[in-house]
Amino acid sequence: MNPLPAALLPDTAEVDGTGRLRIGGCDVIELAATHGTPLFVYDEAHLRNRCRETVAAFGDGVAYATKAFLCAAMARLAAEEGMHLDVATGGELHVALAAGVPPQRLVLHGNNKSLAELGAALDAGVGRIVVDSFDEMDRIDRLVAAGRPAPEVLIRVTPGVEAHTHEYLQTGVADSKFGFGLAAGAAEAAVRRAADSGTMHLMGLHAHIGSQVFTVDSFRFAIEVLAPFVVRHGLPELSIGGGLGVAYVTGESAPTIIEWADVVRTACRDAGIAARVTAEPGRAIVAAAAVTLYTVGTIKELPTRTYVAVDGGMSDNPRPVLYGSGYEAFLPRAVEAARPRRVRIVGKHCESGDVIVANAAVPDDIAVGDVLATPVTGAYGHSMGSNYNMVLRPAVVFVADGNARLVVRRETLGDLTARDIG
Ligand SMILES: Cc1ncc(COP(=O)(O)O)c(C=O)c1O
Repeated sequence: MNPLPAALLPDTAEVDGTGRLRIGGCDVIELAATHGTPLFVYDEAHLRNRCRETVAAFGDGVAYATKAFLCAAMARLAAEEGMHLDVATGGELHVALAAGVPPQRLVLHGNNKSLAELGAALDAGVGRIVVDSFDEMDRIDRLVAAGRPAPEVLIRVTPGVEAHTHEYLQTGVADSKFGFGLAAGAAEAAVRRAADSGTMHLMGLHAHIGSQVFTVDSFRFAIEVLAPFVVRHGLPELSIGGGLGVAYVTGESAPTIIEWADVVRTACRDAGIAARVTAEPGRAIVAAAAVTLYTVGTIKELPTRTYVAVDGGMSDNPRPVLYGSGYEAFLPRAVEAARPRRVRIVGKHCESGDVIVANAAVPDDIAVGDVLATPVTGAYGHSMGSNYNMVLRPAVVFVADGNARLVVRRETLGDLTARDIG
């Protein structure tokens, strides 16, 4: 009866003889005992497998979008696997550089890059800047006039195609804070300005059409819309951005990175695009690599429903609150158990909306003290987390070959007051 689909677990997940979950050769309940909960557990082999698939499918220059999940260990892992890294702020740039990622491998994004962020990127010698506005070009001009080296840039184009999950919408006009609109002529003007500029080396174009996209046809369609522009300018590079979806819950399925790359490359070839085609997936690399472990603290049986409260919540996974996103839940002590009972899994924050799984299937014998896990929580959980209510941010462990290494320590009470100076 409704056991957890194994496909939602990381690559090395296995069930031991007693029904308990092991990831990377480590017993996850022991990980919870050692490191406390909430805890993000990442399967290092899964992360490396997805990076390798991405590099094999797209070739050199393909980037990991660090906004999905970033810490020094993740930055190093992606770089070790041959990926470039997309950083979208000075903060992400700093973490990637501090992790030792060669600056040439960094691609700087952002719709409102400050003079300081651009200056830091030029000083570091990042590989690409994805230019997003004319104001940004003004700032690059100023920095280069003041002696910084001229960067290699891509121009971010908004094709007027928005993709969401299974649908895409051709809006025709770009109503977006990102990039230069194709239809209104802004993209043309931006390319001309960059090409004629002595302060930027124009290498190509960039377009990102959305997130959690399940239908690869959306990418094909966006490429068809972009193609005349791309072909006319004949620039050497085209990045198709990120956005490949992943399955979060029972019954969902998503294209693999290899299938996605195949569609993208074929669509580009069919459209006569000769540029080197690359991409920057985030979620598809990290989402299914991790489970989050919580401890069940309170169970309230109400006439309406049962609330199961755990020791984390919207501070470690804001996606359900922000987007109404669905997740599964299971007990790592009985991974394959039937889950006949329906409950609402909530966090410990002072918000009624602090929901982790609105209608979770769980085993009948779920009890206070159980370690509860939510799979596919490796993307946009840790990175979008907060310490709302001064709840301490969780630790992160990477597991591989029977070893668990702590890569981000749990926040401490001392951290909570470390920035207070008055
Ligand atoms: C420009 C750009 N590239 C890449 C990504 C990564 O997207 P995803 O994690 O959905 O692959 C995003 C996400 O918002 C983005 O805005």
